[in-house]
Amino acid sequence: MKTRITEMLGVEYPIIQGGMQWVGRAELASAVSNAGAFGILTALTQPTPEALAAEIARCRQLTDKPFGVNLTILPAIRAPDYGAYLDVIIDSGIKVLETAGNNPRPFIERAKAAGVKVVHKCTAVRHALSAERLGVDAISIDGFECAGHPGEDDIPGLILIPAAARALSIPIVASGGFGDGRGMAAALMLGADGVNMGTRFCATQEAPIHENIKQALVAASERDTRIIYRKFRNTARIFRNAIAEEVTEIERRPESRFDDIKELVAGARGRKALEAGEVDEGLIWAGQVVGLIDDVPTVAELIARIVAECRARIAAATAMVGTA
Ligand SMILES: Cc1cc2nc3c(=O)[nH]c(=O)nc-3n(C[C@H](O)[C@H](O)[C@H](O)COP(=O)(O)O)c2cc1C
Repeated sequence: MKTRITEMLGVEYPIIQGGMQWVGRAELASAVSNAGAFGILTALTQPTPEALAAEIARCRQLTDKPFGVNLTILPAIRAPDYGAYLDVIIDSGIKVLETAGNNPRPFIERAKAAGVKVVHKCTAVRHALSAERLGVDAISIDGFECAGHPGEDDIPGLILIPAAARALSIPIVASGGFGDGRGMAAALMLGADGVNMGTRFCATQEAPIHENIKQALVAASERDTRIIYRKFRNTARIFRNAIAEEVTEIERRPESRFDDIKELVAGARGRKALEAGEVDEGLIWAGQVVGLIDDVPTVAELIARIVAECRARIAAATAMVGTA
C-alpha cells in the first residue's frame, strides 16, 4: 500500500497504533511495527523520562522497524515534566512524535528542529487547521466514536474525516471506530491517508493487559461504552462497567462536582483494573468499535486480516460502481 502516511512513516501499511496509557509499551508497539504498521510507545506510561529512554531501547531490541512515541499534554495541577520527556524522545533518535491533549505549539519547534516529524491528534477541524499552521506534519483526527477524549462537538468520523480532508493540505489519519478492513476502506474513501486504532489493539495477544479485559472487550457490543465528564467540558468515552455506571449516576445529580468522582476515576485504579483483570474496579478507556471486536488475534494476524479485507472491500466496491 502506498499513501502519504506510508511514505512519511516508512511503513508497509497505513495503520497506526495510537498512544495508550498503560498499554502502549514495547511489547505492543514492536509487534505492530513488525507486522508492517506503525507502533507507538506512550511516554507517560513510564514513570520518568529515564524509564522512557529504557523503554525505547527495549522496543529497539524487539523490532528494527520504525516506531514512534506519544506525548499526551494534558492540563494538570501537577503536570509531568513534558520537556524532559521530549528531550529523551529527541535524544533517543525517535523520528515520529504523536502529540495529543492540548495545543502542541511549545513542542513542535523543538521536535521539528531535531528532525522529528509530528503527528498531532485532535478532534475538531479548527484545531487541526491551527496545528497545520504551526507546522505539524500530519493530523490524526479523532471522531466521536473514539476511546479517550472525543472533544465537545460530537462529530462522528463519517462527517469529521471528509471535513478534515477538505480543509487540510497535510496527510490525515482517520481515528476512532476503526477495527477492521471495512472501516479502513471507508476511511481511505473519505479522504484519509491511513487509520489510527486504539481499542482494537487492546484485544490482541501482545497487548500488555489482563486476559479478562480482552475478553470483556470481545463480549461487549457497540452500546457498551459510556460518555462521562461532559459537565466538566472534558468529555471522555470509557468502557461500560460498574465504575462507568456509578460515575454516570453521580454526574446526573445537578450539584455533583469532580471531587465526588475523583476516587472512582483515579488513574492508579484504572491501571490496576487493566493489569489485574478486575474489569469493574476502575475506569477503562474503550471506543464504540468494541461492537466489532470478536476475538483476540496476534497483532500480525489482525493487520494481515485488515489489509486483506480492505483490499477486498475496495475491489468489490469498484466492481459495483465500475471505473471512471
Ligand atoms: C486503553 C486506551 C488508552 C488510551 N490512552 C491514550 C493516551 O494516553 N493518550 C492519547 O493521546 N490517546 C489515548 N487513547 C486514545 C487512542 O490513542 C486513540 O486515539 C483512540 O483509541 C482511537 O479510537 P478507537 O479506540 O475507536 O480506535 C487511549 C485509548 C485506549 C483504548
